[in-house]
Amino acid sequence: MTIARPAAVIVLAAGEGTRMKSAVPKVLHSIGGRTLLGHAIAAARGTGAEHLSVVVRHERDLVAAHVAEVAPDAVIADQDDVKGTGRATECALDALPGDLDGTVLVTYGDVPLLSAETLHGLLEAHTTSGSAATVITATLPDPTGYGRILRDADGSVAGIVEQKDATGEQLAITEINSGIYAFEATVLRKALAQVGTDNAQGEKYLTDVLGIARTEGLRVGAHLIQDLWQTEGVNDRVQLARLGAELNRRIVEGWMRQGVTVVDPATTWIDTDVSLGRDVTIHPQTQLHGATTIGDDVTIGPDTTLAHVEVGDGASVVRTHGSHSLIGPGATVGPFAYLRPGTELGAQGKIGTFVETKNASIGAGSKVPHLSYVGDATIGEESNIGAASVFVNYDGVSKSRTTIGSHCRTGSDNMFVAPVTVGDGAYTGAGTVVRKDVPPGALAINVAPQRNLEGWVQDKRAGTAAATAATAALSRTSSSPDDAQDPTEGTTAS
Ligand code: UD1
Ligand code: CA
Repeated sequence: MTIARPAAVIVLAAGEGTRMKSAVPKVLHSIGGRTLLGHAIAAARGTGAEHLSVVVRHERDLVAAHVAEVAPDAVIADQDDVKGTGRATECALDALPGDLDGTVLVTYGDVPLLSAETLHGLLEAHTTSGSAATVITATLPDPTGYGRILRDADGSVAGIVEQKDATGEQLAITEINSGIYAFEATVLRKALAQVGTDNAQGEKYLTDVLGIARTEGLRVGAHLIQDLWQTEGVNDRVQLARLGAELNRRIVEGWMRQGVTVVDPATTWIDTDVSLGRDVTIHPQTQLHGATTIGDDVTIGPDTTLAHVEVGDGASVVRTHGSHSLIGPGATVGPFAYLRPGTELGAQGKIGTFVETKNASIGAGSKVPHLSYVGDATIGEESNIGAASVFVNYDGVSKSRTTIGSHCRTGSDNMFVAPVTVGDGAYTGAGTVVRKDVPPGALAINVAPQRNLEGWVQDKRAGTAAATAATAALSRTSSSPDDAQDPTEGTTAS
């Protein structure tokens, strides 16, 4: 039999989460680069459900704004002053179409590892058994705090009792309610109308629906799962870290199975939305965040953090911090590079050691190998920027752009005072402060000629070690050190 997609998934996210001790609502804390609620929404979406509803109350506006961002088509349902998971679900049903029919799944916004596959398994168990309600359960060594599953002598589910309402005998039950369910919409709507608040917490319990359905002679099922992580909710920051580490372990293992070499899985962090090609090697202490995309045969790390960076096939990125940037195929970056937003490095290009870039387009085969700042720049193809160059983009009021053509060779220790343009094939000498445009093919130099005041040290610093060394050196040789310098001396290449 084919399993129909659910009519709706309802994600409960109205609770307070006081144990997080945070100004940020619990469901907006993140693991794997995605909020807890974002994970719950992704799993809900993965079922192909027709409708998605998120129930909000605590920090309503912040949570609703986040839902609007990650799931614009989701229906926001506001829970009123009546407390409890039953009331939350009822508010969602009220916000969904009145004639909603078929199966409704209920999940929690603070259970991030629950997968779409598990929800599909729940739906399958629910549908094939012809149940009115099915609950995901798990057997825990320590079931304290959870609702317990009550079963009849024949093993069928009779209901759920909350920890606070349970008898001593019931507390000994180790099969727990995960809080994730499948319901027939019509049964759910009718049963919720009958649920009261006469219990230890004075809340409207969703769990009561199972007992009511059962009393009406309908079938209630349990779908026992082995992977306990998928039922675990986040209540405090200790659990947040625990579940974050497990999520990462699963993601990293998944990529290794897809052909990625991860030298040290324990210190490698890969967000949920990252994608990696084949034969990528990731060295220790590497973090890949956000919408980062890595091509085939790429080497990343060690000690590298990339957020929203696209890396082309065959590139190498070593000891680098980069965000919102593009690294072309075959390019090399680092060690010790800082790529700020808007960096675009062309194929086979190089951003080398102690180089910072921002809003900079560096063409194919062009190199910025050493100790430089390249901000607000366009560099053509196959050009080489000398060591210790600064693209002087800011006059204290406004930012300006520097354009350097293709096949240029600029000297070491240059300042490009923007706005300024260096034409194709032009050269600049070492130490040039480029304030005027340089025509194609020209050599720009503006460093003053060097003067040597011979004997100055022996005269003005007599008695110092320098003076003694100079006197000794001069007595060893009579040749003069003074010759005109080649102005392009100091141009670097590699
Ligand atoms: C609930 C279950 C319990 C189960 C446990 C699993 C009930 C009555 N009890 O208990 O059987 O073992 O989950 O974790 O359902 N929420 C709302 N509105 C509310 C109350 C809660 O949206 O008024 C949301 C919370 O944001 C959270 C979820 O529902 O995502 C569960 O709430 P929580 O207070 O943690 O339920 P428990 O009392 O732990
Ligand atoms: Ca809970």
